[in-house]
Amino acid sequence: TLPIIRTVSELRAVVRGWRLQGLSVGLVPTMGALHAGHLTLVEEAKRRADRVVTSVFVNPTQFAAHEDLGTYPRQEAQDAALLTAAGGAVMFAPTVAEMYPAGFVTSVAVGDAARGGPSQGLEGEFRPAMFGGVAVVVSKLLNQVQADVAVFGEKDWQQLMVVRRMAADLDIPTEIVGSPTLRDDHGLALSSRNAYLSEAELAVARKLNVILRQAADQAAAKRPLAAVERDAYGAILKAGFDRVDYVVIRHADDLTPFAEGVVTGPARILVAAAIGRTRLIDNMAV
Ligand code: PAJ
Repeated sequence: TLPIIRTVSELRAVVRGWRLQGLSVGLVPTMGALHAGHLTLVEEAKRRADRVVTSVFVNPTQFAAHEDLGTYPRQEAQDAALLTAAGGAVMFAPTVAEMYPAGFVTSVAVGDAARGGPSQGLEGEFRPAMFGGVAVVVSKLLNQVQADVAVFGEKDWQQLMVVRRMAADLDIPTEIVGSPTLRDDHGLALSSRNAYLSEAELAVARKLNVILRQAADQAAAKRPLAAVERDAYGAILKAGFDRVDYVVIRHADDLTPFAEGVVTGPARILVAAAIGRTRLIDNMAV
């Protein structure tokens, strides 16, 4: 199996060795519990770089106190085996103390209430701690690896927009690449949190992508967005979800609403909904 690196200094030494050989470097940040969706990111990174670092770090700063940090699936040996089979060069699995040593106080905000920005609204509203934590850990990883390219999944569309904006604003030279969502045979987006679902809940979860596709098609046909969103909201509850945090159609890049009330340019439908204790997110191009 591939080497598992625990410290930033060891990681830098390995990357320095590759650089001396003239090799390019790709980064795939993850929180582990790897599934086939994560592995498509590794494959995309391999197409774009000679050596791929996959980080596996369950980042505590992006979880709120009531969220699933403690129970988030951890399966490092299996992750290492999957990354080895996928052709990853190293797995970077630092400890919390390595990433956040005593005295750590820096925060990174990609937008705020006054200026807006991709961290505002949607996930930023329902998980206020998350994008601050994501921005800090991703900026650290980008600085630690100094990769040519870093690959993120479209599954977390808002996160991808936050990371792109941050990299542009802070002149981070790593190219940020988005990679399409991998789905199961029923169209359910693969997610580590799908492991929380019972058989019956899984059947409900698999209806979400169908509802999104229908709503996206209606939006593309210029149906007023208020009606599309209202019907999608009702359909998700009717399908058996217990709660819908949001289902909205927004400008694809900055996630602002369409002032015209209909789609007038590149658009994305984004949803967050819960079945029992499990909260799922998904999105699609309109
Ligand atoms: P995690 O949820 O482990 O996801 C790691 C990467 O895999 C993210 O870029 C995510 O969008 C992508 N991904 C997840 N499911 C996918 C699927 N079905 N198809 C394609 N890509 C998929 O997102 C995070 O971790 C963290 O917030 C992180 C960026 C690592 C910062 O801690």
